[in-house]
Amino acid sequence: MDFELKTLTLAGAAAEKCDAIVVLVGESFKPGKDPLSRLVADAMKARDLETKPGKLLQAYRSAGIAAPRVVLAGAGDGTGKRVQAAVQAAVGSLRTSGAKRLVICLPADAGDDAVRAAVAATAEASYVYVATKSKPEGRELQRVTIAVADAARYKAGFGAAKAAANGIEFARELANLPPNLATPTRLGDEAKKLAKTHGFLCEVLGPKEIGKIGMGSFLAVAQGSEQPPRFIVLQYQGAAASEPPLVLVGKGITFDSGGISIKPSQDMDEMKFDMGGAASVLGTFRAIGELKPALNVVGLIPSCENMPDGKSVKPGDIVTSLSGQTIEILNTDAEGRLILCDALTYAERFKPSAVIDIATLTGACVVALGGVRSGLFATDDGLAQSLQDAGDAALDPCWRMPLDDEYADGLKSNFADVANVAGRAGGAVNAAKFLQRFTTKYPWAHLDIAGTAWKGGAAKGSTGRPVGLLVQFLVSQLGAAPAKPARRGAKRK
Ligand code: BES
Ligand code: MN
Ligand code: ZN
Repeated sequence: MDFELKTLTLAGAAAEKCDAIVVLVGESFKPGKDPLSRLVADAMKARDLETKPGKLLQAYRSAGIAAPRVVLAGAGDGTGKRVQAAVQAAVGSLRTSGAKRLVICLPADAGDDAVRAAVAATAEASYVYVATKSKPEGRELQRVTIAVADAARYKAGFGAAKAAANGIEFARELANLPPNLATPTRLGDEAKKLAKTHGFLCEVLGPKEIGKIGMGSFLAVAQGSEQPPRFIVLQYQGAAASEPPLVLVGKGITFDSGGISIKPSQDMDEMKFDMGGAASVLGTFRAIGELKPALNVVGLIPSCENMPDGKSVKPGDIVTSLSGQTIEILNTDAEGRLILCDALTYAERFKPSAVIDIATLTGACVVALGGVRSGLFATDDGLAQSLQDAGDAALDPCWRMPLDDEYADGLKSNFADVANVAGRAGGAVNAAKFLQRFTTKYPWAHLDIAGTAWKGGAAKGSTGRPVGLLVQFLVSQLGAAPAKPARRGAKRK
């Protein structure tokens, strides 16, 4: 979708040629003498419109307004969260109208958060999956103008919001694909395509190379599948080569049947979303390609299927990870940590400033936090705070969970250095404690997105989370410690 930011008063908006206008009416709304203001003032006076977020009033062919459709939407105090609810409701109500050109008028006192929310919510509400429909009902909305009092003031935030929206859409589209199409090979090809478009470095390793490196834990998960595994390495250099990079690691299980510890068949189709972490890393790189921040970022994606087969890894098997630690695999359904641990060790070679892994890791995290906040675990308080702040700002929130050593007690094994599962209690923390063993060389954070990466039921589909959080985090890093700009012609390899 095409987003545009424009300085436009309500009087200007009324004259704008478009299919629909959405006016966000906040508590501080002050009517002017233009037709849109009059519409709002009349409706409020008649109590047909409230400033409560989510409240809507539609009008058709109103006098003095060029657009045939007008949607007045209550936007409460005008903060991001309220704007999000208002835009979601308003754009949702226009879904079947066929509107192609839309103008969204933000409250006069809107902040950066309101602009971000308006862009994100419009993109979210108008997304339509069509990739595998025989008669695709395409997305109608093509061009969206965000009307503000002073476009120059919001320019930077708007650019980041647009990039994030494109990254989120990219992640959603990939994660929504069926598992027979979104294979590890396909993820590798998508990474290569992104790299070509945006000038990233990209390596995609196959089973032989993965074995040669010594990722015995990752390969153990992959060995029961007909689909060959892929290890994807994406590198973006936006700062001097001497600047340590931030490394993002995404779990890329393109289908999680559980393996020999097979899952129940109810809702097993949703385990195609078990590559949501990988999709979020690729989506974040899509946004990076657009934003070109003065940072160095590495993306690592271990990707394979987890399948039952004569060749599958079995409960009781012991494998040697890239770190040298041996792992007793007591439950083949705890496969995410087995592929991530090798990627986390691989990350050491980049001497990173921090490593963040993103994974649909545990059902226990869904129980703990539901679909509202992702689980955040971190060995570094500053990193944890930055991620939590970024999540709140992007309306893609997370919540910090503990990492007390006692949670690792259950991971003891009589036959290997560590077991891949502990008891059911505290399952999300146990999993994080397993990963933590492989992250001793750098500040580390782990986002368990099992509850937030997709929705089930009638609204089944990927959310694209936590791309919004990650892009906001990258932007915040720019402000925190301005990285030196890359030397011209800096070596890209
Ligand atoms: N991909 C799943 C986690 C998951 C389950 C995400 C349900 C979203 C909804 C993961 O690989 C898994 O199976 N985890 C097990 C771990 C257990 C065997 C210790 C789980 O959570 O049940
Ligand atoms: Mn599993
Ligand atoms: Zn899984």
